[in-house]
Amino acid sequence: MQVITTCAEMSRLSWAAERPLGLVPTMGALHEGHLSLVRQARTDSAAMAASIFVNPTQFGPNEDFATYPRSLERDLELLQAEGADLVFVPPPHEVYPDGFDTWVEPGSIAEGMEGAARPGHFRGVATVVAKLFTIIRPDRAYFGQKDGQQVAVIRKMNADLNLGVDVVTMPTIREPDGLALSSRNAYLSAEERETAPAVYRALCAAEDIWRRGERDAGRIQRAAHNILSREPLIDAVDYVSTVDAETMQPLETVPDHRPVMIAIAVRLGPVRLIDNVVLG
Ligand code: PAF
Repeated sequence: MQVITTCAEMSRLSWAAERPLGLVPTMGALHEGHLSLVRQARTDSAAMAASIFVNPTQFGPNEDFATYPRSLERDLELLQAEGADLVFVPPPHEVYPDGFDTWVEPGSIAEGMEGAARPGHFRGVATVVAKLFTIIRPDRAYFGQKDGQQVAVIRKMNADLNLGVDVVTMPTIREPDGLALSSRNAYLSAEERETAPAVYRALCAAEDIWRRGERDAGRIQRAAHNILSREPLIDAVDYVSTVDAETMQPLETVPDHRPVMIAIAVRLGPVRLIDNVVLG
């Protein structure tokens, strides 16, 4: 496994790599969710690359960039054990040199939900992923459904800018009690951790009434709100949204002919938890 810190060297080694080349972009602090992407990439590809880069431009001024969990040595051991060939670990000035001033600005797909709660977040995500795709030129890149709007934004950018990468979405990996794995779960206190699975229970309640025939988005969302409102430690429900799973546009009625995503964001102590299910 080679660890590379410059864009030039990463491009050179990617060009020389066997094909197909699979890429798993990450911000490190790897958990089983990331490893499920890595394993799929390894299975699908002749050569496998991962990137570890805590991308400053996707964090807002009052967000946790400085304190985001970092565990580079352990991450590299895990990637080595999974058989990664190339790991790109650039310092910030390598990705954003002095004078960097060109951005990928997603459109309406990034307006709601996380885009509304975190202004500029998806501009940072789209820009860094476009750069990673351009530097590494993978045949396939792997992302988790846990960040459902992020994958939709990346798919749209990849199509709109003809980047030509096969974007693969992998299922959310959950703890036995339903909590979706996330690097930020490490910030939860013991009591908050006990409350956290309510988010998935709320999604399951929404999915359940949809399965029983309900198609009104307001009533489906209320089923989720009912579960969340019983949890005193949840400080705020940022949103419970029913959206088209491809365009992220809000729906009033759930159609039977298009995939639909129900997404939730709540604030629990120091953490914003996000999760979603795709109906079907
Ligand atoms: O999901 C993440 O870890 C990040 O948003 C990504 C896709 C690696 C871009 O920085």
